[in-house]
Amino acid sequence: MENRYILRCVIENVPTSRAKKLLKCNVQFITILGANPSLLKTWAREMLKARRYTCIVSRVQVVRIYSLLVEYIAMLVRLWVEAKKEQFIFFQGTNKTKGDSMNILITGGAGYIGHYTANLLNKSGHKVIVIDNLSTGDKDNLDKGIQFYDGDITNASDLIRVFGYNDINLVIHFAGKIIVEESINKPIEYYYTNVEGTRLLLKYMEHFSVNKIIFSSSASVYGNYEGIANEETITDPMTPYASTKLTCEDMIKYSGIEYIIFRYFNVAGGKQKGNSLIANIKNSDIITIYGDGSNIRDFIHVKDIAEAHFRAVKHMSSNNTHELINLGCGRGYTVLETIMKSNKDYIFTKARAGDIKISLCDNKKAEIIGWKPIRSIEEMLKEDTK
Ligand SMILES: NC(=O)c1ccc[n+]([C@@H]2O[C@H](COP(=O)([O-])OP(=O)(O)OC[C@H]3O[C@@H](n4cnc5c(N)ncnc54)[C@H](O)[C@@H]3O)[C@@H](O)[C@H]2O)c1
Repeated sequence: MENRYILRCVIENVPTSRAKKLLKCNVQFITILGANPSLLKTWAREMLKARRYTCIVSRVQVVRIYSLLVEYIAMLVRLWVEAKKEQFIFFQGTNKTKGDSMNILITGGAGYIGHYTANLLNKSGHKVIVIDNLSTGDKDNLDKGIQFYDGDITNASDLIRVFGYNDINLVIHFAGKIIVEESINKPIEYYYTNVEGTRLLLKYMEHFSVNKIIFSSSASVYGNYEGIANEETITDPMTPYASTKLTCEDMIKYSGIEYIIFRYFNVAGGKQKGNSLIANIKNSDIITIYGDGSNIRDFIHVKDIAEAHFRAVKHMSSNNTHELINLGCGRGYTVLETIMKSNKDYIFTKARAGDIKISLCDNKKAEIIGWKPIRSIEEMLKEDTK
């Protein structure tokens, strides 16, 4: 039912291996533009076999394969009647990449971590495509050259449009709801966006033969573990938010595609909004401490996180990868210690539901992608609007 509106599809230079995937999407009417003649013939055969309405248009000559012309016109007439009833969605083309560069789809790329990553990959020569519903993100965060789609990962048509228009090689998946406390009050919304959104994304990755993903998970999956967590540490999600992250991890692992799952600790620094400790220190005159200030956090600079994604892309371009990797500094600060670095005033209030006592990262495994954090907590506390 998700695809019942998809009637028309325009394809340009799409490899024939994708024909079968498109057919699974119930595409009814396909226009093939300007591919080479042998590619056109194979495409046309596949489409006719599947009784899809197919139009072939070469850039040089309107119709190169004359034998298909008559059949095509008949189909066109039949289609015309049906098409009036339906909505059209157009797909087009592939973005050819140069050298080692990839076509990378970033979900949630207009958000806090997403835009640092998108801008870095764009600057490094990759073709970056962002899908974001702008619920918390801002399109103006994105540098020139990044292709933006205002779309939702829980909406099949939005995903089909993005994958159909672009020959994606790898997906970086940031989109989702992220406020731990809110997830306790609205668990179903969190499962819908985070889990159903990821399921749909994986489904269309499979349809369009995209087999590499980098996923943003969270250290919250370790629950109240009191030591330094490594990737083997037993998981114990204590909130709906953490549970959605672990469920997505499992879906990705079992889906059979190549992946790097990053478990971020407390991301901070740069252009940060919201209610996190470092953002509060930078943006408020008086800091509210939830609890007694003894909770320990492992803060990691958002630009270090963006660089980890850059290295992960490079690693995945030449390795068949199935890795779970922690991203943190490997050094903890209590809430009170962190505030003291700023000389700001503070007040105490009652602890928040879902707040974890100790969060500390063993980050050694990240060496396999050649990553180490380089920025200090002092840098995270600095004003940075870029
Ligand atoms: N910030 C942290 O400390 C932290 C820690 C661990 C994990 N993470 C994870 O990293 C990812 C990015 O977090 P962030 O801090 O940049 O948050 P953010 O809210 O700034 O970014 C999320 C982005 O996703 C978009 N989005 C939300 N729902 C969407 C949907 N249904 N369809 C399309 N776009 C949608 C938002 O508009 C936003 O741009 C999240 O998955 C989060 O769970 C963040």
